[in-house]
Amino acid sequence: MTLKDRETNQRSSRRAVLQGALGTSLIVGSGIGGMLSTPSASAKAAAIGPETINRQWLLTSYAESAISKANFEYAEVPLGDKALEEGEVLVRNIVYAPMPSQRISMHAVTNLGDGYMPPMEIGKVVSGVSGIARVVKSENSQYPVGALITASGDWEDYTRINRRRLFQPPLPNGIDPVDAISVYGYNAQTAYFGLLRLGEIKSGETVVVSGASGSVGSTVVQIAKLKGCKVIGIAGGKVKCDRLINEYGIDSAIDYKNENITERVRELAPEGVDVYFDNVGGPIMQDVVDQMAKFGRVVLCGAISVYDNENLAPGPRNMLRLVVYSITMRGFLVSDFHAERDLAFADLRKWKDSGDLMYKTDVREGFKNLPETFMALFSGKKEGSLLLKND
Ligand SMILES: NC(=O)c1ccc[n+]([C@@H]2O[C@H](COP(=O)([O-])OP(=O)(O)OC[C@H]3O[C@@H](n4cnc5c(N)ncnc54)[C@H](OP(=O)(O)O)[C@@H]3O)[C@@H](O)[C@H]2O)c1
Repeated sequence: MTLKDRETNQRSSRRAVLQGALGTSLIVGSGIGGMLSTPSASAKAAAIGPETINRQWLLTSYAESAISKANFEYAEVPLGDKALEEGEVLVRNIVYAPMPSQRISMHAVTNLGDGYMPPMEIGKVVSGVSGIARVVKSENSQYPVGALITASGDWEDYTRINRRRLFQPPLPNGIDPVDAISVYGYNAQTAYFGLLRLGEIKSGETVVVSGASGSVGSTVVQIAKLKGCKVIGIAGGKVKCDRLINEYGIDSAIDYKNENITERVRELAPEGVDVYFDNVGGPIMQDVVDQMAKFGRVVLCGAISVYDNENLAPGPRNMLRLVVYSITMRGFLVSDFHAERDLAFADLRKWKDSGDLMYKTDVREGFKNLPETFMALFSGKKEGSLLLKND
């Protein structure tokens, strides 16, 4: 196998792992939200030809410390006249869902093995993880022109997708692409499986959630409340903390930018923390793990606080405490639960319909704003699920 083949396979396998979690959209049914009309899409499709400009954002350098716009370069290239192969489709990306995990593959070395988020290639289009796209040319009868599909949201207008990377059937007519990617999407399922399967929460338990105002975290806190837990969220700044209490109905919030986490957790959870849902890693993880209750469960979902850092994500320093307190610490990928996604989907839908689960989206617009939008994931300058609509 050549290096190029290996890189192509790695990219595909990473996408397979991540996109596998997105396939539930099919059971949403119609009537969820605003529609995108197929006729206008067909009209657009008719206008697409070899001279059509494909706007792209390329990765020009790896970012070993804080990511900046200098790591990206804007380009415009014609689509060209290479015909689609059998089974292939050409899509126009219409909604991008920037994800913190993309940041992992903007390092030259990830130390995570080949299968998950391998380094992107310098000079190539920035790879996405999640997005919604419309088929504009097709050599695949299952994906006709006009169909909406879940896609990787690579940072370009148009993407060719071969048969191997077409994981799920098209979305049903009438689905709002923003709903498809948020309320029922990848992060909501991550919250669901992480909390219920790994956290194994029980009514009355105390649950602490970091990154609580983010896409995954804000769903975690709501499910934990629905299940009768006492919920403490950790977020940056008073505004976000107040919102978590007043809008999401959690019991207390800790402002990690201005408060001492150890002291506050001790005060709010005097009997210890039963479940810690960790989205951020680093010192916050350490402070909460130090206060786990007997038989506590630590759910390792992500480590956003260290993604901008070239050092490896550190573990907790006092492992003996885990022994003495019989604590379980377990990581997961949402794709581990791929086979059960319909279950999550049904529950998420039920809670959304009953008004028990709300989903805040921060929807930005304009392809040219992709780098800034992505960087907002790491600066805290966003709320809820961050999305960008293509123009
Ligand atoms: N295991 C899986 O399968 C899986 C799937 C999806 C996502 N994830 C992981 O889940 C985590 C959350 O993802 P998401 O999509 O919900 O991201 P998100 O919407 O960006 O939320 C992350 C939150 O973390 C906070 N944050 C950012 N930098 C921080 C720092 N240095 N220290 C403390 N808090 C910080 C931000 O809010 P503040 O303003 O409060 O700082 C933000 O609201 C990430 O680590 C991601 O990689 C894992």
